[in-house]
This record gives sequence, C-alpha cells and structure tokens, in this order.
Amino acid sequence: MIVKGSPNIVVRRAFPSDLDTLYRIEIECFGEDAFPKSYIRRIIEEPYFITLVALLNDEIVGFIIGALESFLGRLAGHIYSIDVKPEYRGMGVGSRLLGAMEEELKGAGAEICCLEVSVDNTAALNLYLKHNYRVIERLKNYYGIGRDGMRLVKKLGEIEVRQ
Ligand SMILES: CC(C)(COP(=O)(O)OP(=O)(O)OC[C@H]1O[C@@H](n2cnc3c(N)ncnc32)[C@H](O)[C@@H]1OP(=O)(O)O)[C@@H](O)C(=O)NCCC(=O)NCCS
Repeated sequence: MIVKGSPNIVVRRAFPSDLDTLYRIEIECFGEDAFPKSYIRRIIEEPYFITLVALLNDEIVGFIIGALESFLGRLAGHIYSIDVKPEYRGMGVGSRLLGAMEEELKGAGAEICCLEVSVDNTAALNLYLKHNYRVIERLKNYYGIGRDGMRLVKKLGEIEVRQ
C-alpha cells in the first residue's frame, strides 16, 4: 500500500526517453489545455529548464517543470507546471516534487520562487499555500478570456510547516 508522503517516492531528472510518458500525464492533467508534445520535448532537452519526475515502484507518476529566471530584480525560480497522475493524487507526490524543485532552484542560487495558478484550481492553490507561497497579484485573463490567474511567491529557505 502507498501511504501519504511515502518514502517510496523517488525523484530524478527527466530523460528524453520519458517524453511519451510525460506527454500522456500532461494530457490526463490538462486535456485540451495540455502543452503540445513538441513543447515538452523542448523542455526536457533544453538545459534552461529543470524537469523532475517522481517515481513510485519505477513508474513515473508525476513531473514538475521549473527554470531559473529573474523576478523583481532577484534571482528567482519559476515553476511552469506540476502534474500528478489522477490515481496517485493526495499521496504527497505533488509536495515531494515541489520540495525537490525548490531545492534544485535554491542550489542554483534562487532566493525566491514564483508561479502562476488558475483562480479555480483549488487543489494546486492549496498545495502552494501549504508550502508557504503567498498570492501577490491577480492576473486578469491570464489563461484566456474570463480565466484569471494568480501569481504566488515564496521566499526560499523559509522553515517549512508540513504535516
Ligand atoms: C495540484 C496537484 C499537482 C497536487 O498533487 P498531489 O500529489 O495530489 O498533492 P499532495 O498529495 O502533495 O497534496 C498536498 C496538499 O495539496 C492540497 N491538495 C491536494 N489535492 C487537493 C484537492 N483535491 N483539494 C484540495 N486541496 C488539495 C492539500 O493542501 C494537500 O495537503 P493535505 O493533504 O495535507 O490536505 C495535482 O492535483 C494535479 O496534478 N492537478 C492537475 C494538474 C494541475 O492543476 N497542476 C497545477 C497547475 S498550476
């Protein structure tokens, strides 16, 4: 049985050979809003992006995409996407991926980490709030007409409060 926050979750960098699996998960998570396969291929191959995958019993069950950028005049991590397969949600996979990406970005010099989320994505918003992200602005029509987003920021290195 897989328990929440299971130590069996292994996180590693994505390989080009993971492409088909990541694209399948992206479609499962976002449907018609999914990134095109060509975009995911570029992200995996491009050193600018950091792509991490989470494995449970050698199966890829989720992934996260981030990059080191500049934000508000500071070196910042930017999370582009986080996807967990529906049947593996609520087990701590998203938290583990987010934590691993923050460590990577911090190791690369990021002081803060920022990301965007749709205002109606309760699961993702709760995940980020739980990990000490704070909403700094509302982004009108960010995901299309009538689909607002929010930008959240976290200072890296803060003491984590997790259950
Ligand atoms: C958002 C997502 C990555 C969360 O992954 P996950 O592995 O289920 O997350 P975790 O198990 O680590 O949960 C951590 C916290 O997130 C929040 N959360 C997760 N699922 C939730 C849900 N369905 N409803 C409300 N809050 C939820 C909770 O605060 C949870 O902490 P808790 O279990 O102590 O209550 C996952 O739901 C997903 O892939 N969604 C589709 C893709 C997506 O929307 N990505 C975000 C784009 S910005």
